[in-house]
Amino acid sequence: MPSPLADPVKLPCGLVLPNRLSKAAMAEMLAKNNKPNDTLSDAYERWSQGGWGCILTGNVQVDVNHMGSPFDPALHSEYTGKDAALLEQWKKYADASQKHGTPTIVQICHPGRQSFRGAGKRGMFAPTIAPSAVPINIGTGLVERAIAAVAWTQPREMTRGEIDTVIRQFVDTARLMADAGFSGVELHAAHGYLLDQFLSSKTNRRTDEYGGTPEKRARFVLDILTETRKVVPANFAIGIKLNSADHSSDTFEETMTQIALLASAGLDFLEISGGSYEDPRMMGHSTSAKAQVSDAKSARTAAREAFFLEFAHTVRERHPDLVLMLTGGFRSRAGAEAAINDGACDLVGIGRPAAVDPKFPLLLLDEQVADEDAKLVLEKAPVPWYAKWLPRSLIGAGAESTYYAGQIGRLAKGLATYAPAL
Ligand SMILES: Cc1cc2nc3c(=O)[nH]c(=O)nc-3n(C[C@H](O)[C@H](O)[C@H](O)COP(=O)(O)O)c2cc1C
Repeated sequence: MPSPLADPVKLPCGLVLPNRLSKAAMAEMLAKNNKPNDTLSDAYERWSQGGWGCILTGNVQVDVNHMGSPFDPALHSEYTGKDAALLEQWKKYADASQKHGTPTIVQICHPGRQSFRGAGKRGMFAPTIAPSAVPINIGTGLVERAIAAVAWTQPREMTRGEIDTVIRQFVDTARLMADAGFSGVELHAAHGYLLDQFLSSKTNRRTDEYGGTPEKRARFVLDILTETRKVVPANFAIGIKLNSADHSSDTFEETMTQIALLASAGLDFLEISGGSYEDPRMMGHSTSAKAQVSDAKSARTAAREAFFLEFAHTVRERHPDLVLMLTGGFRSRAGAEAAINDGACDLVGIGRPAAVDPKFPLLLLDEQVADEDAKLVLEKAPVPWYAKWLPRSLIGAGAESTYYAGQIGRLAKGLATYAPAL
Protein backbone atom coordinates (compact mmCIF):
# COMPACT_ATOMS: atom_id res chain seq x y z
CA MET A 1 0.00 0.00 0.00
CA PRO A 2 1.40 3.44 -0.85
CA SER A 3 2.56 5.41 2.17
CA PRO A 4 0.42 8.38 3.27
CA LEU A 5 3.71 10.27 3.14
CA ALA A 6 3.48 10.11 -0.67
CA ASP A 7 0.26 12.17 -0.79
CA PRO A 8 0.55 15.70 -2.17
CA VAL A 9 -0.43 18.70 -0.05
CA LYS A 10 -2.04 21.82 -1.50
CA LEU A 11 -1.37 25.07 0.37
CA PRO A 12 -4.05 27.80 0.49
CA CYS A 13 -2.04 29.92 -2.00
CA GLY A 14 -2.41 27.09 -4.54
CA LEU A 15 1.16 25.78 -4.30
CA VAL A 16 1.20 21.98 -4.42
CA LEU A 17 3.87 20.10 -2.48
CA PRO A 18 4.29 16.69 -4.17
CA ASN A 19 4.61 14.76 -0.90
CA ARG A 20 4.62 15.28 2.86
CA LEU A 21 8.34 15.16 3.55
CA SER A 22 9.97 18.56 3.95
CA LYS A 23 13.64 19.21 4.41
CA ALA A 24 13.75 21.45 7.50
CA ALA A 25 15.67 24.74 7.62
CA MET A 26 19.34 24.29 8.47
CA ALA A 27 21.80 27.18 8.45
CA GLU A 28 24.39 25.99 5.93
CA MET A 29 27.34 28.17 7.05
CA LEU A 30 28.40 28.47 3.40
CA ALA A 31 27.81 32.14 2.48
CA LYS A 32 31.24 33.60 3.20
CA ASN A 33 30.36 37.18 2.15
CA ASN A 34 26.71 36.77 3.18
CA LYS A 35 25.59 36.34 -0.42
CA PRO A 36 24.46 33.15 -2.13
CA ASN A 37 27.24 31.47 -4.05
CA ASP A 38 27.90 28.38 -6.16
CA THR A 39 28.76 26.21 -3.14
CA LEU A 40 25.38 26.97 -1.59
CA SER A 41 23.61 26.24 -4.88
CA ASP A 42 25.53 22.96 -5.17
CA ALA A 43 24.25 21.83 -1.76
CA TYR A 44 20.68 22.59 -2.79
CA GLU A 45 21.14 20.83 -6.12
CA ARG A 46 21.95 17.69 -4.11
CA TRP A 47 18.74 18.11 -2.08
CA SER A 48 16.78 18.81 -5.28
CA GLN A 49 17.49 15.22 -6.35
CA GLY A 50 16.24 13.80 -3.07
CA GLY A 51 12.50 13.43 -3.70
CA TRP A 52 11.47 15.99 -1.06
CA GLY A 53 7.94 17.40 -1.10
CA CYS A 54 9.36 20.74 -0.04
CA ILE A 55 12.78 22.21 0.68
CA LEU A 56 13.11 24.85 3.37
CA THR A 57 16.37 26.77 3.11
CA GLY A 58 18.54 27.67 6.08
CA ASN A 59 17.80 31.05 7.58
CA VAL A 60 18.43 34.10 5.39
CA GLN A 61 18.92 37.20 7.52
CA VAL A 62 16.94 40.31 6.63
CA ASP A 63 19.70 42.70 7.81
CA VAL A 64 23.40 42.06 7.25
CA ASN A 65 24.16 44.07 10.39
CA HIS A 66 22.39 41.53 12.58
CA MET A 67 23.38 37.99 11.70
CA GLY A 68 22.66 34.60 13.26
CA SER A 69 26.05 33.31 12.15
CA PRO A 70 28.80 35.09 10.18
CA PHE A 71 28.07 32.83 7.19
CA ASP A 72 24.31 33.24 6.64
CA PRO A 73 23.10 34.79 3.39
CA ALA A 74 21.55 38.20 4.09
CA LEU A 75 19.90 41.28 2.64
CA HIS A 76 22.61 43.94 2.41
CA SER A 77 20.51 47.01 1.69
CA GLU A 78 17.04 48.13 0.68
CA TYR A 79 15.82 45.95 -2.21
CA THR A 80 15.18 48.05 -5.30
CA GLY A 81 15.11 45.24 -7.85
CA LYS A 82 17.90 47.01 -9.75
CA ASP A 83 20.93 44.94 -8.69
CA ALA A 84 20.93 42.49 -11.60
CA ALA A 85 24.04 40.60 -10.40
CA LEU A 86 22.51 40.01 -6.96
CA LEU A 87 19.22 38.84 -8.43
CA GLU A 88 21.11 36.54 -10.80
CA GLN A 89 22.91 34.83 -7.90
CA TRP A 90 19.64 34.31 -5.99
CA LYS A 91 18.01 33.01 -9.19
CA LYS A 92 20.82 30.50 -9.62
CA TYR A 93 20.21 29.28 -6.08
CA ALA A 94 16.42 29.04 -6.64
CA ASP A 95 16.92 27.20 -9.94
CA ALA A 96 19.38 24.71 -8.43
CA SER A 97 17.02 23.88 -5.57
CA GLN A 98 13.92 23.59 -7.76
CA LYS A 99 15.67 21.87 -10.69
CA HIS A 100 13.73 18.64 -10.20
CA GLY A 101 10.41 20.26 -9.36
CA THR A 102 10.59 20.52 -5.56
CA PRO A 103 9.13 23.81 -4.34
CA THR A 104 11.68 25.68 -2.24
CA ILE A 105 10.68 28.02 0.56
CA VAL A 106 13.21 30.47 1.96
CA GLN A 107 13.31 30.92 5.70
CA ILE A 108 13.74 34.62 6.55
CA CYS A 109 14.96 35.73 9.94
CA HIS A 110 16.25 38.48 12.22
CA PRO A 111 18.13 37.18 15.28
CA GLY A 112 17.42 40.22 17.49
CA ARG A 113 19.11 39.77 20.87
CA GLN A 114 20.48 36.34 19.82
CA SER A 115 22.85 37.86 17.23
CA PHE A 116 26.32 36.81 18.36
CA ARG A 117 28.96 39.45 19.05
CA GLY A 118 30.86 39.90 15.79
CA ALA A 119 28.14 38.27 13.65
CA GLY A 120 26.98 41.02 11.33
CA LYS A 121 28.43 44.31 10.24
CA ARG A 122 27.35 46.38 13.26
CA GLY A 123 30.68 46.02 15.11
CA MET A 124 31.93 43.99 18.08
CA PHE A 125 30.55 46.26 20.78
CA ALA A 126 27.30 47.55 19.26
CA PRO A 127 24.18 46.37 21.11
CA THR A 128 21.77 43.89 19.62
CA ILE A 129 18.20 45.06 19.05
CA ALA A 130 15.16 43.51 20.69
CA PRO A 131 11.58 44.38 21.71
CA SER A 132 12.89 45.14 25.22
CA ALA A 133 16.34 45.31 26.83
CA VAL A 134 16.25 41.80 28.33
CA PRO A 135 19.72 40.20 28.29
CA ILE A 136 20.28 36.55 27.34
CA ASN A 137 20.32 34.22 30.32
CA ILE A 138 21.83 30.79 29.64
CA GLY A 139 22.24 30.03 33.35
CA THR A 140 23.16 31.68 36.63
CA GLY A 141 26.48 29.87 37.20
CA LEU A 142 29.79 31.67 36.75
CA VAL A 143 30.67 29.80 33.55
CA GLU A 144 27.27 30.40 31.95
CA ARG A 145 27.34 34.12 32.81
CA ALA A 146 30.88 34.46 31.45
CA ILE A 147 29.94 32.70 28.19
CA ALA A 148 26.89 34.93 27.75
CA ALA A 149 28.95 38.09 28.32
CA VAL A 150 31.49 37.06 25.69
CA ALA A 151 28.98 35.71 23.18
CA TRP A 152 26.40 38.51 23.17
CA THR A 153 26.33 42.26 23.67
CA GLN A 154 23.49 43.82 25.70
CA PRO A 155 20.23 44.22 23.78
CA ARG A 156 18.67 47.64 23.26
CA GLU A 157 14.90 48.29 23.03
CA MET A 158 13.85 48.97 19.44
CA THR A 159 12.37 52.35 18.62
CA ARG A 160 9.14 52.65 16.62
CA GLY A 161 11.26 53.73 13.65
CA GLU A 162 13.37 50.57 13.95
CA ILE A 163 10.23 48.43 14.08
CA ASP A 164 9.11 49.97 10.77
CA THR A 165 12.58 49.41 9.29
CA VAL A 166 12.69 45.73 10.25
CA ILE A 167 9.15 45.19 8.88
CA ARG A 168 10.37 46.70 5.61
CA GLN A 169 13.48 44.48 5.64
CA PHE A 170 11.33 41.33 5.98
CA VAL A 171 9.05 42.52 3.16
CA ASP A 172 12.04 43.42 0.93
CA THR A 173 13.63 40.02 1.51
CA ALA A 174 10.39 38.23 0.64
CA ARG A 175 10.09 40.32 -2.55
CA LEU A 176 13.66 39.46 -3.56
CA MET A 177 12.94 35.75 -3.03
CA ALA A 178 9.75 35.97 -5.12
CA ASP A 179 11.63 37.77 -7.90
CA ALA A 180 14.36 35.12 -7.78
CA GLY A 181 11.77 32.41 -8.43
CA PHE A 182 11.49 30.72 -5.03
CA SER A 183 8.07 29.31 -4.14
CA GLY A 184 7.59 31.05 -0.82
CA VAL A 185 9.05 32.33 2.43
CA GLU A 186 8.81 31.13 5.99
CA LEU A 187 8.98 33.74 8.76
CA HIS A 188 11.30 32.38 11.45
CA ALA A 189 9.31 33.15 14.58
CA ALA A 190 10.73 30.28 16.64
CA HIS A 191 13.97 29.43 18.50
CA GLY A 192 14.23 32.74 20.37
CA TYR A 193 14.87 34.95 17.34
CA LEU A 194 13.44 38.46 16.97
CA LEU A 195 9.88 37.53 15.95
CA ASP A 196 9.73 35.01 18.79
CA GLN A 197 11.11 37.70 21.14
CA PHE A 198 8.15 39.94 20.22
CA LEU A 199 5.62 37.13 20.73
CA SER A 200 6.92 36.16 24.17
CA SER A 201 6.13 38.04 27.38
CA LYS A 202 9.52 36.97 28.73
CA THR A 203 11.36 39.14 26.21
CA ASN A 204 8.68 41.65 25.20
CA ARG A 205 7.94 44.12 28.01
CA ARG A 206 6.85 46.97 25.78
CA THR A 207 3.97 49.20 26.77
CA ASP A 208 3.19 50.56 23.29
CA GLU A 209 1.01 48.93 20.60
CA TYR A 210 3.64 46.16 20.10
CA GLY A 211 3.54 44.81 23.65
CA GLY A 212 1.40 44.21 26.72
CA THR A 213 -1.24 41.68 25.67
CA PRO A 214 -0.71 38.49 23.61
CA GLU A 215 -2.56 40.23 20.76
CA LYS A 216 -0.29 43.30 20.87
CA ARG A 217 2.84 41.13 21.07
CA ALA A 218 1.69 39.37 17.88
CA ARG A 219 1.25 42.66 16.02
CA PHE A 220 4.87 42.85 14.74
CA VAL A 221 4.59 39.40 13.11
CA LEU A 222 1.10 40.18 11.80
CA ASP A 223 2.30 43.47 10.26
CA ILE A 224 5.11 41.60 8.48
CA LEU A 225 2.68 38.96 7.24
CA THR A 226 0.13 41.49 5.98
CA GLU A 227 2.69 43.77 4.32
CA THR A 228 4.43 40.81 2.66
CA ARG A 229 1.16 39.51 1.23
CA LYS A 230 0.69 42.87 -0.52
CA VAL A 231 3.93 42.60 -2.55
CA VAL A 232 4.30 38.92 -3.48
CA PRO A 233 2.37 36.95 -6.12
CA ALA A 234 -0.88 35.29 -5.00
CA ASN A 235 0.58 31.80 -5.42
CA PHE A 236 3.69 32.60 -3.32
CA ALA A 237 3.52 30.71 -0.02
CA ILE A 238 3.96 32.45 3.33
CA GLY A 239 4.49 30.18 6.30
CA ILE A 240 5.73 30.64 9.81
CA LYS A 241 7.88 28.59 12.21
CA LEU A 242 6.68 28.89 15.79
CA ASN A 243 7.66 27.49 19.15
CA SER A 244 5.35 25.14 20.98
CA ALA A 245 4.30 25.97 24.54
CA ASP A 246 4.02 23.45 27.35
CA HIS A 247 0.41 22.70 28.13
CA SER A 248 1.21 23.29 31.77
CA SER A 249 2.83 26.68 31.19
CA ASP A 250 1.26 30.05 32.07
CA THR A 251 1.63 31.18 28.48
CA PHE A 252 -0.10 28.22 26.82
CA GLU A 253 -3.42 29.99 26.19
CA GLU A 254 -1.58 33.16 25.14
CA THR A 255 0.28 31.18 22.48
CA MET A 256 -3.03 29.72 21.33
CA THR A 257 -4.47 33.25 21.04
CA GLN A 258 -1.51 34.27 18.89
CA ILE A 259 -1.84 31.19 16.66
CA ALA A 260 -5.54 31.99 16.12
CA LEU A 261 -4.59 35.52 15.01
CA LEU A 262 -1.91 34.24 12.64
CA ALA A 263 -4.19 31.56 11.20
CA SER A 264 -6.86 34.13 10.37
CA ALA A 265 -4.28 36.44 8.76
CA GLY A 266 -3.79 34.09 5.82
CA LEU A 267 -0.97 31.69 6.60
CA ASP A 268 -0.11 28.94 4.13
CA PHE A 269 1.39 26.71 6.80
CA LEU A 270 2.49 26.70 10.40
CA GLU A 271 5.64 24.80 11.34
CA ILE A 272 5.92 23.72 14.96
CA SER A 273 9.27 23.53 16.69
CA GLY A 274 10.52 24.70 20.07
CA GLY A 275 13.41 26.06 22.08
CA SER A 276 15.93 28.93 21.97
CA TYR A 277 19.62 29.48 22.73
CA GLU A 278 18.59 29.67 26.40
CA ASP A 279 16.83 26.28 26.23
CA PRO A 280 17.69 24.40 23.01
CA ARG A 281 14.75 22.00 22.87
CA MET A 282 14.64 22.03 19.03
CA MET A 283 17.66 19.71 19.11
CA GLY A 284 16.16 17.43 21.74
CA HIS A 285 18.19 19.12 24.53
CA SER A 286 16.72 21.14 27.36
CA THR A 287 18.02 23.21 30.25
CA SER A 288 14.53 23.44 31.73
CA ALA A 289 13.61 20.93 34.44
CA LYS A 290 9.91 21.63 33.76
CA ALA A 291 10.32 20.77 30.06
CA GLN A 292 12.21 17.60 30.93
CA VAL A 293 9.51 16.47 33.35
CA SER A 294 6.70 17.30 30.91
CA ASP A 295 8.49 15.41 28.09
CA ALA A 296 9.16 12.43 30.33
CA LYS A 297 5.53 12.36 31.47
CA SER A 298 4.24 12.16 27.93
CA ALA A 299 4.20 8.45 27.17
CA ARG A 300 2.82 9.19 23.69
CA THR A 301 5.75 11.43 22.84
CA ALA A 302 8.25 8.97 24.27
CA ALA A 303 6.77 6.10 22.26
CA ARG A 304 7.08 8.09 19.06
CA GLU A 305 9.79 10.18 17.53
CA ALA A 306 8.53 13.74 17.29
CA PHE A 307 9.57 16.21 20.00
CA PHE A 308 6.47 18.45 19.87
CA LEU A 309 3.70 15.99 19.01
CA GLU A 310 1.34 16.83 21.88
CA PHE A 311 1.34 20.50 21.04
CA ALA A 312 0.73 19.77 17.34
CA HIS A 313 -2.33 17.73 18.32
CA THR A 314 -3.73 20.64 20.31
CA VAL A 315 -3.21 23.11 17.47
CA ARG A 316 -4.84 20.64 15.07
CA GLU A 317 -7.90 20.28 17.33
CA ARG A 318 -8.39 24.04 17.42
CA HIS A 319 -7.48 24.75 13.77
CA PRO A 320 -8.44 21.73 11.68
CA ASP A 321 -7.93 23.60 8.37
CA LEU A 322 -4.47 25.01 9.09
CA VAL A 323 -1.66 23.21 7.21
CA LEU A 324 0.69 22.01 9.95
CA MET A 325 4.32 20.97 9.67
CA LEU A 326 5.92 19.28 12.65
CA THR A 327 9.71 19.30 12.93
CA GLY A 328 12.12 17.67 15.35
CA GLY A 329 13.03 14.05 16.00
CA PHE A 330 11.67 12.24 12.93
CA ARG A 331 14.02 9.46 11.90
CA SER A 332 11.84 6.78 10.29
CA ARG A 333 8.94 6.06 7.96
CA ALA A 334 7.02 4.53 10.87
CA GLY A 335 7.44 7.67 13.01
CA ALA A 336 6.50 10.02 10.17
CA GLU A 337 3.49 7.92 9.14
CA ALA A 338 2.27 7.71 12.75
CA ALA A 339 2.25 11.53 13.00
CA ILE A 340 0.35 11.88 9.71
CA ASN A 341 -2.12 9.05 10.42
CA ASP A 342 -2.79 10.46 13.89
CA GLY A 343 -3.69 13.80 12.32
CA ALA A 344 -0.96 15.61 14.27
CA CYS A 345 0.41 17.25 11.11
CA ASP A 346 0.19 17.42 7.31
CA LEU A 347 3.91 17.79 6.70
CA VAL A 348 6.88 16.20 8.41
CA GLY A 349 9.95 18.43 8.78
CA ILE A 350 13.28 16.59 8.71
CA GLY A 351 16.55 18.30 9.65
CA ARG A 352 19.63 16.31 10.65
CA PRO A 353 18.84 13.18 8.60
CA ALA A 354 18.69 15.44 5.51
CA ALA A 355 22.25 16.59 6.13
CA VAL A 356 23.51 13.01 6.20
CA ASP A 357 21.25 11.60 3.48
CA PRO A 358 20.05 14.28 1.04
CA LYS A 359 17.87 11.62 -0.62
CA PHE A 360 16.22 10.41 2.61
CA PRO A 361 12.66 10.67 1.14
CA LEU A 362 13.57 8.22 -1.64
CA LEU A 363 14.28 5.65 1.10
CA LEU A 364 11.13 6.43 3.12
CA LEU A 365 8.87 6.39 0.05
CA ASP A 366 10.32 3.24 -1.51
CA GLU A 367 7.64 0.55 -1.13
CA GLN A 368 10.26 -2.16 -1.70
CA VAL A 369 12.03 -1.15 1.53
CA ALA A 370 10.58 -2.75 4.67
CA ASP A 371 9.46 -0.47 7.51
CA GLU A 372 12.25 -1.64 9.82
CA ASP A 373 14.85 -0.55 7.22
CA ALA A 374 13.19 2.76 6.29
CA LYS A 375 14.98 4.83 8.92
CA LEU A 376 18.23 6.57 9.77
CA VAL A 377 19.59 6.06 13.27
CA LEU A 378 21.60 9.04 14.46
CA GLU A 379 23.80 8.92 17.55
CA LYS A 380 24.55 12.11 19.45
CA ALA A 381 27.08 14.33 17.68
CA PRO A 382 30.56 14.15 19.21
CA VAL A 383 31.58 16.89 21.67
CA PRO A 384 35.21 18.06 21.20
CA TRP A 385 37.40 17.38 24.28
CA TYR A 386 38.08 21.09 24.90
CA ALA A 387 34.35 21.83 25.16
CA LYS A 388 33.49 19.15 27.70
CA TRP A 389 33.61 21.56 30.65
CA LEU A 390 30.84 23.71 29.15
CA PRO A 391 27.15 23.35 30.24
CA ARG A 392 25.94 20.01 28.87
CA SER A 393 22.68 21.11 27.21
CA LEU A 394 24.29 24.08 25.46
CA ILE A 395 27.30 22.24 24.22
CA GLY A 396 25.13 19.31 23.14
CA ALA A 397 23.03 21.56 20.88
CA GLY A 398 26.16 23.41 19.67
CA ALA A 399 27.88 20.13 18.86
CA GLU A 400 24.83 18.97 16.88
CA SER A 401 24.73 22.18 14.79
CA THR A 402 28.47 22.14 14.17
CA TYR A 403 28.52 18.49 13.19
CA TYR A 404 25.60 18.70 10.75
CA ALA A 405 26.72 22.02 9.24
CA GLY A 406 29.97 20.15 8.54
CA GLN A 407 28.00 17.45 6.71
CA ILE A 408 26.18 20.11 4.66
CA GLY A 409 29.61 21.50 3.71
CA ARG A 410 30.67 18.04 2.54
CA LEU A 411 27.43 17.56 0.64
CA ALA A 412 28.00 20.89 -1.18
CA LYS A 413 31.42 19.67 -2.31
CA GLY A 414 30.03 16.35 -3.53
CA LEU A 415 31.83 14.44 -0.73
CA ALA A 416 30.44 11.50 1.22
CA THR A 417 28.50 12.42 4.36
CA TYR A 418 28.49 10.48 7.63
CA ALA A 419 26.17 9.91 10.55
CA PRO A 420 27.91 10.52 13.91
CA ALA A 421 29.82 7.39 14.96
CA LEU A 422 29.02 5.61 18.25
C1 LIG B 1 23.08 22.48 11.36
C2 LIG B 1 21.70 22.94 11.76
C3 LIG B 1 21.28 24.21 11.43
C4 LIG B 1 19.99 24.64 11.75
N1 LIG B 1 19.57 25.86 11.32
C5 LIG B 1 18.28 26.21 11.46
C6 LIG B 1 17.77 27.38 10.83
O1 LIG B 1 18.47 28.09 10.11
N2 LIG B 1 16.47 27.68 11.03
C7 LIG B 1 15.64 26.88 11.78
O2 LIG B 1 14.46 27.18 11.92
N3 LIG B 1 16.09 25.77 12.38
C8 LIG B 1 17.37 25.40 12.20
N4 LIG B 1 17.81 24.23 12.73
C9 LIG B 1 16.84 23.38 13.46
C10 LIG B 1 16.13 22.41 12.49
O3 LIG B 1 15.33 23.07 11.54
C11 LIG B 1 15.24 21.44 13.26
O4 LIG B 1 14.23 22.19 13.90
C12 LIG B 1 16.04 20.63 14.29
O5 LIG B 1 17.25 20.16 13.73
C13 LIG B 1 15.23 19.43 14.78
O6 LIG B 1 14.90 18.59 13.71
P1 LIG B 1 15.68 17.20 13.45
O7 LIG B 1 15.55 16.41 14.72
O8 LIG B 1 14.98 16.59 12.29
O9 LIG B 1 17.11 17.54 13.17
C14 LIG B 1 19.10 23.78 12.45
C15 LIG B 1 19.55 22.51 12.82
C16 LIG B 1 20.82 22.06 12.47
C17 LIG B 1 21.23 20.68 12.83
